[in-house]
Amino acid sequence: MNVLVTGGAGYIGSHALVALIEANYDVVVLDNLINGSAEAVMRVEKITQRKIPFYEGDIRDSNFLNSIFKNHDIDVVVHFAGLKSVGNSVKNPIEYFDFNVNGTISLVKGMELAGIYRLVFSSSATVYGDSSIMPLHEDLPTGEPKNPYGRSKLIIEQMLQDLAKSNSRWSIGLLRYFNPVGAHESGLIGESPQGTPNNLLPYVAQVAVRRLPKLAIFGNDYDTIDGTGIRDYIHVMDLVEGHVKAIKKLEKSGGLKIWNLGTGKGYSVLEMVDAFESVSGRNIPYYFQHRREGDVAVCWADVSLAEIELGWRAKRDLLDMVGDTWRWQIQNPEGYR
Ligand code: NAD
Ligand code: WQD
Repeated sequence: MNVLVTGGAGYIGSHALVALIEANYDVVVLDNLINGSAEAVMRVEKITQRKIPFYEGDIRDSNFLNSIFKNHDIDVVVHFAGLKSVGNSVKNPIEYFDFNVNGTISLVKGMELAGIYRLVFSSSATVYGDSSIMPLHEDLPTGEPKNPYGRSKLIIEQMLQDLAKSNSRWSIGLLRYFNPVGAHESGLIGESPQGTPNNLLPYVAQVAVRRLPKLAIFGNDYDTIDGTGIRDYIHVMDLVEGHVKAIKKLEKSGGLKIWNLGTGKGYSVLEMVDAFESVSGRNIPYYFQHRREGDVAVCWADVSLAEIELGWRAKRDLLDMVGDTWRWQIQNPEGYR
């Protein structure tokens, strides 16, 4: 089975390559390297001892896509390629709709032309909006995402739902990620943010290696155990193993399915900082700042559907997430650069 991995040189995509190869799939990578690194793919080759066909180019380029589909007999596409910075999406909304929404339109058109109808899409818990019901179950109505990035994910979900309804040949999995963190246990691949990280754990990791002086904690007046925000952090290797299970499920069933990928357990910002300090043995200086606009107080997943339908559940715990992040950071203080 041949899997085309769009965005395979990025954070989650590179880890997915490892899981797919370990599950005996042949992978082909497509990435325009706007936020990814060819080095990540080379390191996956080192981990897996396999040569990976890599195509540098853009999913919005239909000739480029068609040539990949001509060269390889692709059975399924796992679609990670897109832009993901919430803050940048507010500054450059059209760019986000172009990369994410137009990118996906171009991809599914190319797939239809090539007769490929199996797709796994990287969605996000952000599509639930500011729900007061926890945990978040797939049956809950989607909410109003607070930024163009989140809206682009919701629009793509709705578009793919219409597509699946229009033609029963399509078999599509929408995977709603909670907060992916961590790195492959080898420490060879991990998250390598460009510029100052937006997300909590990469920021904390850079404070630990003294690339950044201090962590600003956004709000300590939420209605939570210690006043800081609670999220469902999931180890990236658990997350990508969920993709393998989703592909296997889609091989047997058609239509469109939605699955949450989280752990079902939330941790506060202070709990994450404490865990990082004890694993790394480094002090993480922090201070409290006002709440970040658009943040929800709490967010965690109901993971029962993925457990029942995919036979998948996250195996790695908080110490694995933090420990693997730390190993990656200490071995690669500047990321891939
Ligand atoms: P990433 O930026 O590390 O990876 C995305 C990859 O796609 C990059 O390598 C980038 O170069 C590539 N890319 C972007 N636009 C492209 C285009 N038009 N053509 C070809 N390649 C393109 O991000 P990630 O964290 O690995 O996220 C992967 C996917 O998962 C994204 O769709 C993201 O929105 C989604 N997601 C991520 C998170 C998270 O917290 N990391 C959470 C929920 C959903
Ligand atoms: C986690 C917690 C912050 C940074 C985002 C996107 C979401 C998804 C995952 C892609 C929150 C706090 C953070 C910092 C802090 N991405 N924090 N200081 O906001 O849950 O989700 O990434 O789909 O769409 O919105 O993740 O890691 O930014 O924040 O105090 O410097 O850490 O307030 O409580 P978030 P995060």
